[in-house]
Amino acid sequence: MMMGANSAPKPPLNSAINSTPSSNSVSPAIMSTLSTHITVLLNEAVDALNIKPNGTYIDGTFGRGGHSKNILSKLGSAGRLFAMDRDLAAIETGKQIQDARFCIEHRHFSEINQLAVNHNLTSVDGILLDLGISSPQIDEGERGFSFRFDGPLDMRMDQTRGKTVAELLTTISEQQLGKVIKDYGEERFAKQVARAIIKERTDGRAITTTGQLAKVVASAIPKVEPGQNPATRTFQALRIFVNQELEELSLILPQCLNLLAVGGRLVVISFHSLEDRVVKRFIQSEENRDDLPANFPIKAKDLPQARLLSIGRAIKPSAHEIKQNVRARSAVMRVAERTAIA
Ligand SMILES: C[S@@+](CC[C@H](N)C(=O)[O-])C[C@H]1O[C@@H](n2cnc3c(N)ncnc32)[C@H](O)[C@@H]1O
Repeated sequence: MMMGANSAPKPPLNSAINSTPSSNSVSPAIMSTLSTHITVLLNEAVDALNIKPNGTYIDGTFGRGGHSKNILSKLGSAGRLFAMDRDLAAIETGKQIQDARFCIEHRHFSEINQLAVNHNLTSVDGILLDLGISSPQIDEGERGFSFRFDGPLDMRMDQTRGKTVAELLTTISEQQLGKVIKDYGEERFAKQVARAIIKERTDGRAITTTGQLAKVVASAIPKVEPGQNPATRTFQALRIFVNQELEELSLILPQCLNLLAVGGRLVVISFHSLEDRVVKRFIQSEENRDDLPANFPIKAKDLPQARLLSIGRAIKPSAHEIKQNVRARSAVMRVAERTAIA
């Protein structure tokens, strides 16, 4: 049964729950890059949440808190905002927000149900996901996301769990690597790139830095797209793979459906077609449910059984926003509203 979003008692929320050991504290280098992220579709996303002053909201991708701060500015004294991020540097920024209505947890957003259990949330009025990586993650060479800097080949958003790209490259087969680069990077020379990477390994040259990887990839690509670094697609593919980005998204979406109160909004900003496709298909499948038996006398589309209704069309940043922030150029935002159908 759907219950009111504010049915649970409301303790002060300004304590950050950090489930990681203290040995993983944020380095000064990472701290120095705080607050350099320019929030994409800031007003559009928060408007789409349709904030009720006393409502309860979840920001699943806190980043540097641009959306979260805007949500807080629209909440009244009884409103609440729960935030998550898998990156410890983001959590450090979140801890600086001194606001009794706000709480942040270090966790992957696929664990949203656990967040809800921790805080006795039976339902919420809106959930925001601003996917992908933040500018400080890309711009900090030590994180190993970018071919623009030579750094350790890491690429994990959550440096407390999982394998780095360097570790992955010591064990992955050429065939699987080719598939990852093709599927997640949509790289037409995926086979050649995989072959070149694995040759480095078999020749006894472990690839441990972003610079090394970028060089090997460039050597395997015969034709470079104008204006694009030859390593762009391979880096994107490996990042998506080590962070299990599509799996995370596929895991959170059905949980959002169960957590949203009637009329609650789901707002998702994607940065590449693979994740936008997952979001679009999920909303479509909830809107046009087709799970009735084939011989049922009424067609599924004629029954009022949609659990989500898509609100408006996909929204992209304006030319003005892209001019101010080129990283906004590939963003696509989709919005859906929870219906009363169980
Ligand atoms: C584009 S940034 C969000 C920026 C934020 N909206 C702002 O205005 O500052 C994406 C953030 O989501 C986090 N993130 C990505 N995937 C995640 C996941 N599966 N679970 C938790 N956090 C995730 C990243 O670590 C990053 O900090």
